[in-house]
Order: sequence, then C-alpha cells, then structure tokens
Amino acid sequence: MYTGTMMNGLSIYVFVFLFIFEKCQTDSRSCGYPPSQWCRSLEIATECGFFKANFTFAVFPGLKVLKQCMELNVTRPDPSVPPVDVAVYYDSLCPGWRTFLTGQLFPTWTMLRDIMRLILVPYGNAKKLPDQKVFSCQHGKPEWQANMLEACILNVTGHSAFLIVHCVESSSDVINAAQPCVWLYALSVEWGTVESCMRGSLGHRLMHENMMKTLALGPQRTHVPWVTFNGVYTPEWEDKAMSSLFNLVCKLYRGIKPPTCAGSLKKLDQGFCNSFS
Ligand SMILES: *[C@@H]1O[C@H](CO)[C@@H](O)[C@H](O)[C@H]1NC(C)=O
Ligand SMILES: *[C@@H]1O[C@H](CO)[C@@H](O)[C@H](O)[C@H]1NC(C)=O
Ligand SMILES: *[C@@H]1O[C@H](CO)[C@@H](O)[C@H](O)[C@H]1NC(C)=O
Repeated sequence: MYTGTMMNGLSIYVFVFLFIFEKCQTDSRSCGYPPSQWCRSLEIATECGFFKANFTFAVFPGLKVLKQCMELNVTRPDPSVPPVDVAVYYDSLCPGWRTFLTGQLFPTWTMLRDIMRLILVPYGNAKKLPDQKVFSCQHGKPEWQANMLEACILNVTGHSAFLIVHCVESSSDVINAAQPCVWLYALSVEWGTVESCMRGSLGHRLMHENMMKTLALGPQRTHVPWVTFNGVYTPEWEDKAMSSLFNLVCKLYRGIKPPTCAGSLKKLDQGFCNSFS
C-alpha cells in the first residue's frame, strides 16, 4: 500500500516534469495550430493529440491540450437555456466504463462543459444486503471500494471532482492512485477528508443514495455504463453516446450552438512553441 502510493507519487512527478519540459519539442510537430485554437473544434483537438491521448501517468501527450481546453472559455452558453444533463451510472472497474470515460466522456466534457451538466453515479452492480451495512459486488471488494472512493471524491472535492475521477480511473490501481490524483487536481482538499468519507458513515450513505438512484431508473438498467440525457434513456442515444458523444451533446443542446460544435478553423502553416506557466 505504502510502496504503491510512493510509486504513484513518483510517477506524478515524472509526469509533471515531462509535461513542463517536453512541450516545446512536440508542439510544432504534433499539429499546425497554436494552443489558443486547440479547443476550437473537435477536429483540431483530435489533430493536436487530445483523443490520441494515452491517459497514463507517465506518458500523457493529450495533457497539454487538456490544460489549454480547461483554461479557455471557448463556449459561450446562453444562460436562459439549460445545459444538457448527461448522467452516467457505472461500475468503477468495468472496462466498458473506462473505455467510454477516456474515449468519449472526458474529451467531450472538457470541451463542452459549459453546455452540459455531468452527473456521475458510481454504484454498478453492487447490492446492499438486507440487514447489513455492507454491499456485495459483482467483482468483489476492490470494486465496491473503488465505487465508494469515487462517490466520496465526487462529494468532497468540489469542482475538481471529475478530473480526479478521470485521473484515478486512468491508473491501473484506482485505490492507490487516489491520493496523488487528489493532490494533483485539488491541492486545497485534505486527503483525510476523502479517507474519512470512505471509513465513516458518509461513504455508506453516498453508496446508499447511489443505489436508490440506480434502482429508480426507468427503464431498469441492464448494463453499465448506462447513460441518460436529460433524465431519459433511449438505445439510440446510447449507441450515439458510445461512438460520438460530442456530436450528440451538441445536437441535444437547445441554445445557440457554441463555435466548438461547428467544425474546424483555418489551419496555420507555421510551427510554434508555446509556454504554459
Ligand atoms: C499507453 O502507453 C503505454 C506506454 O507507452 C503503452 O504500453 C500502452 O500500450 C499505451 N496504451 C494505449 C491504449 O495506447
Ligand atoms: C472563463 O470563465 C470564468 C468564469 O466564467 C472566468 O472566471 C475566467 O476568467 C474566464 N477565463 C478566460 C480566459 O476568459
Ligand atoms: C454530499 O453528500 C451529502 C449527503 O448525502 C449531501 O447532503 C451533500 O449535498 C453532498 N455534497 C455534494 C457537493 O454533493
């Protein structure tokens, strides 16, 4: 446990180091757009490496694009139009969820977070046994722990929660990645807050709430990840979500579409080397 955490901590340092010092070497050859345009469209983000991103700690080419996307307000939503509610019911260790998270949900949220509201319900196939305070899980205890960990992260880490969930899900060891991920994205959050949520009654209460939300679904969930849009499930939307969530969210948004939804801008032919600080 201790060694695992140290290793993850070390990987984070390596990864931050690579992130800071490697950027100039790769920017000019990765794509022909300046960073200010990286998030202007799906095509550009793709070309500049965001979707090719290999979301591991040590090698993370898409991180530069992520940082750029998070800093720019590229979408300009109309405050009178509600965002698209995207709710995902999932099981933390389910491979299908991880594929959806890294391939669709995370990039889409990064670029369209101003017009979508993400609701994550980690619970999966866990069942609360009658008269007991424990849950049984399809994949056993690690999965139950991982789901509770994510429920706790979502409850106590504020606006960084999804970045942290994505960070832990990108690791092969969700539990041990949690502390470095919280450190990386929410420096102001005490690790002890997450830990005591998991050890105490809050974690159980959150899992109970997630169970109730999952059981209340209509139609009943038959698999995970299970995705609803504005509270509605349809197999057609689910199909689209798995292959092109970005386009679906753009389509379902009822306001004036943000420029991000509309396609690519003019490509520059010069190389560039941008400095983040
Ligand atoms: C991610 O990178 C690692 C190390 O470079 C590699 O072993 C792994 O296959 C890559 N995964 C994907 C999905 O590209
Ligand atoms: C983006 O929007 C946020 C809040 O709406 C604001 O605080 C921030 O300064 C904006 N950033 C830029 C680069 O305009
Ligand atoms: C955290 O969970 C508690 C208990 O369910 C709830 O009252 C509170 O609103 C939640 N906070 C957030 C930010 O979700």
